[in-house]
Amino acid sequence: MSDTIVIFGASGDLTSRKLIPALFNLYAKGRLPKDSRIVGVSRSKFKHEEWRDSLKESTAKFAGDTFTTELWNEFSDNVYYHPGDIGAIEDFHSLKTFLESIEPEHTCGRVYYLSTMPQLYEAAIKQLGTAGLSDDTEGYRRVIIEKPFGTDLSTAQALNKSIHGVFREDQIYRIDHYLGKETVQNIFALRFANSIFEPIWNRNYVDHVQITVAEEVVIGRRAGYYDTSGILRDMFQNHILQLMMITAMEPPARYDSALVRDEKVKVLHSVRAMSGGDFAANTFRGQYDGYLKEEGVPRGSQTATFAALKLYCDNWRWKDVPFYLRSGKGMSCRTTQIVIQFKNVPHILFGEKTRTPLGNRLVIQVQPAEGIQLHFETKVPDSEMKTRTSTLDFNFQKSIGGSMPDAYQRLLLDAIQGDASLFARSDEVELAWGIVDPILAAWNSPAAPPLYSYETGMWGPMESTKWMADQKREWFDVCPVIH
Ligand code: BG6
Repeated sequence: MSDTIVIFGASGDLTSRKLIPALFNLYAKGRLPKDSRIVGVSRSKFKHEEWRDSLKESTAKFAGDTFTTELWNEFSDNVYYHPGDIGAIEDFHSLKTFLESIEPEHTCGRVYYLSTMPQLYEAAIKQLGTAGLSDDTEGYRRVIIEKPFGTDLSTAQALNKSIHGVFREDQIYRIDHYLGKETVQNIFALRFANSIFEPIWNRNYVDHVQITVAEEVVIGRRAGYYDTSGILRDMFQNHILQLMMITAMEPPARYDSALVRDEKVKVLHSVRAMSGGDFAANTFRGQYDGYLKEEGVPRGSQTATFAALKLYCDNWRWKDVPFYLRSGKGMSCRTTQIVIQFKNVPHILFGEKTRTPLGNRLVIQVQPAEGIQLHFETKVPDSEMKTRTSTLDFNFQKSIGGSMPDAYQRLLLDAIQGDASLFARSDEVELAWGIVDPILAAWNSPAAPPLYSYETGMWGPMESTKWMADQKREWFDVCPVIH
C-alpha cells in the first residue's frame, strides 16, 4: 500500500522550510515508499511544475547534504499541486477526484497535513468530512494538525469536538515539533534504557528541575500572532509542558502510543492547581525592552515575552520538588536545556559548606549543542581537601559524526506509519490548557504580578535571578558550547 501526503497551506513557510525538505530527506534515506505522492493545496493558482520549481531552491537550502538535482527530479515527479480554497466545498470534491486519479489503488493511505492558519482548521476538517475524504474503509486516513491547538481550554475543547465529528481520535495527530527532536526522544532512552538514573530520579534525591527554552531571537514580524499569544501560549502550553511530562512521567509498561500518553497525561493531572497568592509567588513575567516598538505591537501591550513558572507535581515521585519552567525571547543565547539538580550530600565534609545546592547536576542539552553533561564534585589536585565541580560530557554530534535530523522527519514518518506516540492526545492538550489558562487569567487581573522589563541579550529580568536566590536556588544560566 502506498501513501499520499496532502498538505493544506502549501504556499506557506512551513511547507517550504520544513515539510518538503523533511519528506525529501525521508525519500533520500529510502524511508518514504518510492511511489508516495505529495499533493500541495492552497489558494494560489500554481501548475504542478511551477510548485515543484518553487520548492526546489528551498529544499536545496533546508534539506542539507542529501540534496542533489538528480534526486530532486526523481522525488519531485511525485509532487503535485491542486489549487483549492478551504471555504469552497467544490474544491474538496475536485481534490478527491484528483487524488483518485493519481493514486494507483483504492487502498492507498492518506495523511492530510493542516498547515493553514489555525482559524481554518475547523472548516478544513468539516470539508474533508463532507467531501468523503475522511472515510477510511479502504485505506487509512489521518490528519496532522499544527500548533496552536486552540487559544485556551474552551477553544481547544471546541476544536476537539468538531474534529471528533469527522475523525476518530486514532486518526488525529496533533503535532508538537519538540517531540520530534532526537534529544527529546533520547530522554526516554536516558531514563528507561539505563538502570543508573531511575533510582535517583525522584524526590529523595532531586532538589529541583529546571527546564529552560531560551531564544535569542525577538518577535520580528510576528507581532500579529505573538501579541495575542505571548510566551505562555506560544511555548509553555505545548513545548515546555511536553518536556516536563517526559522528564516527570512514570515508565510506561510498553513503548506504545496509548501507554506512553497515559503516563504523560498523569503528570498533567498531578500538577498542583494555583490559587490566590500562588500566582504572584509562583509565576513570573517579563517583556523585553523594545517589544513595544516592534512593528504591529499595540501601544502599552502587556504581553509577556519571558515567563518563569514554579510548578509542583503532587504525586509519589515528585511531591514538593519544584519544576522551574522558563522561556523567553531576546535572551542571551539559544538554548533548550533540562537541568536535574540533585540534593546536597547529607553531611558536607569538605568544600564550601554554604554552597547550596552543590554541583550534582545532570544537564540535558536539547539544542543547539545536543548532549548530556553530568556535573559532580572532584578534589582540586594538589590542594587540601577542596572540591570543585567537574563535568562528564556526552555530545551527540561528535558521537554520530554528523548533524541531527530535523524534527519533522520523525514526525511525518510516524504519522505515515500510524505511530502516534509523539503526538498530543485530546486530553493532553486540554489538560495543558487547564494549567495555562488560570495563569493567563491571573495575569490579566488587577492582582497580576508585575511585568518586569529586561534588556535583550540577558537571561530575562534581573528580578528573576533574585526570585530564585530568595528560594536559595539559582538558574543554570550557561550558554552551551557548540563543538
Ligand atoms: C514555535 C514558536 O512553536 O517554536 C516560536 O511559535 C519559537 O515562537 C519556536 O521560536 C521554537 O522552536 P525551535 O525548534 O526553534 O526551538
